[in-house]
Amino acid sequence: MNIYAIVLAAGKGTRMKSNLPKVAHVVLYKPMIKHICDELKKMETSETIAVIGHGKEVIRKIMKDEVSYVEQNEQLGTGHAVKMTAPILEDKEGITLVINGDAPLLRKETLEALIQVHQENKNQATLLTAHCDTSKSFGRILRNAQGDVDAIIEVKDASSEQLAITEMNTGIYCFDNLLLFEALKQVTNDNAQKEYYITDVVKILNQMGKKVGSCVISDFDEVGGINDRVELAKAQKKLQLRVNHELLLNGVTILDPENTYIARDVEIGQDTIIEPGCIIKGNSVIGQNCHIGPYCEFDNVIIKDNVEIKFSVLSDSVIESGVDIGPYARLRKDCHILENVHMGNFVEMKNTTFGVGSKCAHLSYIGDAVVGKDVNIGCGTITSNYDGKNKFKTIIKDNVFVGCNSNLVAPVTLESGAYVAAGSTITETVPEDAFAIARERQVTKEEYAKVLKEKRERK
Ligand code: UD1
Ligand code: CA
Repeated sequence: MNIYAIVLAAGKGTRMKSNLPKVAHVVLYKPMIKHICDELKKMETSETIAVIGHGKEVIRKIMKDEVSYVEQNEQLGTGHAVKMTAPILEDKEGITLVINGDAPLLRKETLEALIQVHQENKNQATLLTAHCDTSKSFGRILRNAQGDVDAIIEVKDASSEQLAITEMNTGIYCFDNLLLFEALKQVTNDNAQKEYYITDVVKILNQMGKKVGSCVISDFDEVGGINDRVELAKAQKKLQLRVNHELLLNGVTILDPENTYIARDVEIGQDTIIEPGCIIKGNSVIGQNCHIGPYCEFDNVIIKDNVEIKFSVLSDSVIESGVDIGPYARLRKDCHILENVHMGNFVEMKNTTFGVGSKCAHLSYIGDAVVGKDVNIGCGTITSNYDGKNKFKTIIKDNVFVGCNSNLVAPVTLESGAYVAAGSTITETVPEDAFAIARERQVTKEEYAKVLKEKRERK
């Protein structure tokens, strides 16, 4: 069975008061529309089509070629939006999910439940509905005496009795694809908002003698939709706690789930402890038995088992097992930190491979470097990797010792076993097992400190 999906994303979202289209707003580090499309991707739909209009370039940039696009240049309503996909879908057999793009908390499991109800009951249309209080301006589900769904009535078209109904249209539907497009031909804009409503398809299918059913879900918030930034903040909190809850059940300790922000796609292994104040996002993966935080920010970081990291900011890097980082370290991008490294206070690295068991304990910048194993980088060591225009490489082989406050002016190589004296500025290769010192020799003047003091006092 082919499953198609249409994600409605052409609206502006006026109440967001933003230059961004509504569905481009970010919930827990991911744009709303991407949340939905990622869930669809996991379901392996045959094709997902985004209907775009307002801010279409922004949305193309977010979704790239992960979905197909159709443009709705004038937003004449949700029914009109779905109709825009006719050139691609109209003749195809299968079922089609129609999803409002502003429901980022929607889960794949819910869509699967909707499809299951649709198929088991041999429906031609199945609505996802949920109950909530009547203060919300959602379309109301109208049922007949037998309890079957008759129609959906929009708030602006509803009578006061209809407004008292608590069963809401979530804006998420499953249709027989061919019938959806047949019914859409009959949808008019004869209503309070002068819009073409997708919701009218329900009534039309009933008139055609087709079977319309429903799938009622208990968690209204999952499908509630976001219309302003208050709802955006609430959805974010809800998703944050949901992600943390799942991790807790999977054996991750999170000391303060309210104050820990972990994106939906992050994976964390058993017995890892996450201290308060951490932000973990992108496609980060953390192994088992790690101790993370307090106050770390990770973006696209792969961390293996038994790693300890405090108060540090890491992005686009890989950390092997047994490493200990921080407090106050920074890995900018493309770093590979090998097993059992110790990286201490105020150390920054970028585009660097740092070898097994090596140490860089304090106050250093290591960029564009390849560092071997069991190397000691003394406090205050800097790779001078940039001449104002180009970047150069520093190669430090196994068992090198770099004394404190050294400058390694790249391109430069320290061969294995080399020893650099503290305070050196190294500009040339240091051969294997050689000692290099590159600084002024010390001048000592006996008794001269006293002379200086007397001079000062005479003034
Ligand atoms: C819609 C439903 C309502 C349901 C609610 C759930 C209709 C007529 N009403 O109302 O029954 O309770 O969703 O959230 O469908 N969009 C387009 N093109 C358009 C209009 C809208 O792409 O011409 C997109 C928007 O970008 C948005 C989605 O469709 O992602 C929903 O639009 P919105 O205006 O928020 O619909 P509601 O009035 O909330
Ligand atoms: Ca809405």
